[in-house]
Amino acid sequence: MEYIKPIWNLEEIRSLDYEFVETYQKNPSYDHYHHSRYKDIIGNEAYYLPKPMPSFIDEIIKYPIFDEFDIVLPGIHRMQPGMVLPLHADPFGNIKRLYNIEDIEQVYRYLFFLEDSKPGHLTQLEDKIIVNNEAGNYIKWKGSALHAAFNMGIEDRYTMQITCFNNSI
Ligand SMILES: [Fe+2]
Repeated sequence: MEYIKPIWNLEEIRSLDYEFVETYQKNPSYDHYHHSRYKDIIGNEAYYLPKPMPSFIDEIIKYPIFDEFDIVLPGIHRMQPGMVLPLHADPFGNIKRLYNIEDIEQVYRYLFFLEDSKPGHLTQLEDKIIVNNEAGNYIKWKGSALHAAFNMGIEDRYTMQITCFNNSI
């Protein structure tokens, strides 16, 4: 796993006004998870643009890893205990609409772990499960790569996602 030095303040991250993202039978990426037991646990909470981003994000999006991209869109996620995002590919619906992207394989997602993993915090990317990440570790994937996140613990799980691509307009 790759790593950047954590420059964020966890108190600031915890104090953001997250909103629950309705997912069960709403997000087509999860249509096959139709068992009724999933109704209350699929989903996560997000803090997205156009809400003002914490100032550390301005610094991070200037890092050289993002130099190759015209568009770099950050967001922060909180998963409370019991929430799951089972294996799925992202639909990128808003991005396709807003930026005229046809091929989602042009879109990259970076997921930064904002804290050391806590017991029960699991992340999956393709055939790998990540359980021992440190704050500052990050993973990335392209377009339709399958991924998942599970909070089967007792503490909230915080991540920052940065979505990037080159604008085709
Ligand atoms: Fe996803």
